[in-house]
Parts: sequence; structure tokens; C-alpha cells
Amino acid sequence: MPSQKKFDVSVVGELNVDLVLYDLPGQFELDREYLASNMSVTLGSSSAIFAHNLSRMGNRVGFHSAIGDDAFGQMCLDRLVEAGVDVSAIKRFSGKQTGITVVLPQPEKRFILTYPGVMDEMRFEDLDLHRLTQAGHLHLSSYFLQKALRPRVAELFRYAKQAGLSTSLDTNDDPQDHWEPDFLEVFPSVDVLLPNEREAMRLAGIADPIRSLDFLAARVPLVVMKRGEQGAVAQRGNDRLDAMPPKVATVDTIGAGDSFDAGFLHQFIRGAKIEECLRFGNLAGALSTTRTGGTEAFRDAAYRNAFLAEGKSAVLPRVG
Ligand SMILES: Nc1ncnc2c1ncn2[C@@H]1O[C@H](COP(=O)(O)OP(=O)(O)OP(=O)(O)O)[C@@H](O)[C@H]1O
Ligand SMILES: [Mg+2]
Repeated sequence: MPSQKKFDVSVVGELNVDLVLYDLPGQFELDREYLASNMSVTLGSSSAIFAHNLSRMGNRVGFHSAIGDDAFGQMCLDRLVEAGVDVSAIKRFSGKQTGITVVLPQPEKRFILTYPGVMDEMRFEDLDLHRLTQAGHLHLSSYFLQKALRPRVAELFRYAKQAGLSTSLDTNDDPQDHWEPDFLEVFPSVDVLLPNEREAMRLAGIADPIRSLDFLAARVPLVVMKRGEQGAVAQRGNDRLDAMPPKVATVDTIGAGDSFDAGFLHQFIRGAKIEECLRFGNLAGALSTTRTGGTEAFRDAAYRNAFLAEGKSAVLPRVG
């Protein structure tokens, strides 16, 4: 059963808009103008996409974040409120700007250009710890973007564990590619770690995905490594399971990882078996790729519910 507390999940992280420009070339020359074939201005940032999609799947989600006092910040708030996310702990920093990410999808991957705005200014002192611990579970996304919060993330996770919450962490990428190992201090208070394949290798400092998984699984009770259209692998101790997502017509993969996290944890907080968490994570990840950006596929309730229900009998995990 989900938690008896006020919220199922407290989410801590960054909040910004995504501006997506489609069909631009993979290389640019100075002083030339390039025309996109389409564009979308939508809710961005890993944490917000996670919070939005988790709430859309029927969970009570409280979001702890910061925005500037501008139109982009208001747009982010409106989207979250529309999805049923509790935004009362989101701080508005006066005279500051909300972050923005410009995404240029390419056939395989994408360019990601970010102005962080207030996302790197939110401090531990800005968090409402009382509200945050009125949840059954704590999730934090984009560890390396939380510049001001980062020195006290380990303390935050210890505090949450002591208050009885289960916890999960999706570090996402380190834009500076430094991978300073201070995250190792957070690991003892993390129940579920959700890297993608590249991030798992960087976190472990090992250039092999499966050996990285072994390294991380020796430090965190459950590690779930996302592998794009190859699905995901979960490892608890020495037990490893992997599962594929359904085949879908993909528009873009923005927020697929965050949607996977939302689907996986939707089941995890209900005490489901890892097989079921993986199946639902893959379904949610695949669903997100079928519409633009990270949240659009989850906004249409009829479409979302039909997609998630259709996957009921799909893709049983293989034992690895
Ligand atoms: N082309 C695809 N078809 C079906 N499912 C996909 C596809 N790409 C991604 N997914 C689903 O989304 C999940 C997460 O994908 P990915 O490995 O890209 O995570 P990520 O790198 O953390 O993503 P993000 O960039 O959002 O942080 C996969 O495990 C899978 O379930
Ligand atoms: Mg990710």
C-alpha cells in the first residue's frame, strides 16, 4: 500500500522550461541561420518531469524546488498544478530567472543546452523539511545540477531515512564531466539508484556497464540501470533481472529516463516485485517517447491509461 502520510513521494530538484527545436542539423556554421521544422515549449527538467508524470499516474506528489519570478517559472508551476502536484514548497526567488533548456533532437541522441537560472542556487536551508518528511518516499534528480544543495544532499538523505522515508536518486549526467565522488557519501542512505548506462560507468569509474552495476550494487541495495530502447537492468546484491520496453513509434526520448523512474517507483512504493517495477518503468519510459517532450504523453489521460493498461501482459523480464 502507498504511504498513510500526506504525500506518497517528496521530490527535490530543479525546475525549468524545455524549448525543443526539431530537425536541425548535427553541425552548425557561424553566421548561418538554421530553420527548425517544428518547436515545442514545455515543462522540462528531470525532477519536474518525474514529479509531473508520477502525479499523473495517481500518486500524491509534493515538489521541493525553486523558480525565478518570471513567465517561464509561472508556466512550470501551472503545468505542475494542472497535473495535481503540490507546489506549496516551491520557492520563488525574487529578481532571479528560471532556468531553460534548449533541446535539439537528432536521429539517435540530442543536443542539450541549459541555462541553469535559480536551479543551482537552491540551498538546504530553502527546503521545508517538515513538509518534505510528510511522505513515504524521497526522490532527488540531477545531483550535479544542484550546486548549492549538493554539499548537504547526504545529510538530506540521512534525515529522510531517519524520518522513515524510503529514498531514490537519479544523478543524471555531470555536465562538467568531473564526477567528483562526493556522491559516495549519499549512497549509504539511498534505497534505489537509477542511472543510465553511461552514468553508471562514470559513477563507478569503470568502463564496463555490467562491472559498474556490480560496483554500484555493492553500495546501494537496488540499482536500476536504464539502457534506452534496450530497456533496463535491475540488480539487488548478486541477483540481476533485465526487461525490454514495448516497441513504439518514438517522437523524441526527452524525459524517457525520468518517466521510467516514475513508472518504476510507482510500483516500488506499493511493494511490488522488481519484475513488476521494471515492467512498469519500461512502459512509462516508452510511453513518454511517443509524444513530444517529457510530459505530453502523460497529460492525455485516455491515451496514457490505454497505453499503460495495454502493457499489462507485455514483456516479461529475462533472468540475467
Ligand atoms: N526508443 C525507445 N523505445 C522504447 N522505450 C524507450 C526508448 N528509449 C527509451 N525508452 C525507455 O525509457 C527508459 C529510459 O531511457 P534512457 O536510457 O534514455 O534513460 P536516461 O538516459 O536516463 O534518459 P533521460 O535523458 O531522460 O535522463 C528506457 O529504460 C526504456 O524503458
Ligand atoms: Mg536520466
